[in-house]
Amino acid sequence: MPDNQLQLENVDACVFDAYGTLFDFNSAAIAARDELGEDWQRLSDLWRLKQLQYTWLRGLGQQHADFWQVTGDALDFALATLKIERPGLRERLMNLYLELKTYPEVPTMLQELKARGFKLAILSNGSPSMLDAVIKNSGLEGVFDGVFSVEEVGVYKPHPSVYALAAKGLSLDPSQICFLSSNGWDAFSAKAFGFQTLWCNRFGQPPERIPATPDGEILDLSVLPPMLK
Ligand code: LAC
Repeated sequence: MPDNQLQLENVDACVFDAYGTLFDFNSAAIAARDELGEDWQRLSDLWRLKQLQYTWLRGLGQQHADFWQVTGDALDFALATLKIERPGLRERLMNLYLELKTYPEVPTMLQELKARGFKLAILSNGSPSMLDAVIKNSGLEGVFDGVFSVEEVGVYKPHPSVYALAAKGLSLDPSQICFLSSNGWDAFSAKAFGFQTLWCNRFGQPPERIPATPDGEILDLSVLPPMLK
């Protein structure tokens, strides 16, 4: 159930997850629909699923590689599973990942929060060059006070050292930060770390069964500004 009436207090910064929260990871496969046809959704779902699995597997196995590598490996797995072999398609999809579209409400919501004086940041598994590209290509340059990548700590979410990057980088206590993610596991883990947390449940998923529960659940980010005092 969405908690749109909720008011969050003492928030100085909003920190956003990138992929799935600000940027629509489906938009890469959608842009290549001329080649993927009806397979685009299955390809996109499997690509994303495998991408996240590889972050956790590499973390547990202590075999870190950056998100560009992991994203490419996951795409290879997805293409092989669906038996899609087309010259140039892998490279095309990887390049499209650098040009993912924002969800429709994102630019206005960010401008409103910025105008009201909130600090804004991204905290993401993405490598610095991937994040720079997607920010630039979506016209959001200059909007964020911090863009924090897991590459600084060499391990993926939900390792607590990742969430600590944002608090340290913004010189704030975790309780002064409102963290937003559409990934339930990310939102639940960020709450366990100590952020005020809203789960932007775009995909209508059931709650995770892991420690801590976000302060609230919203369906998209348009409702965020009125929730902040
Ligand atoms: C990120 C992934 C989890 O941006 O969406 O960190």
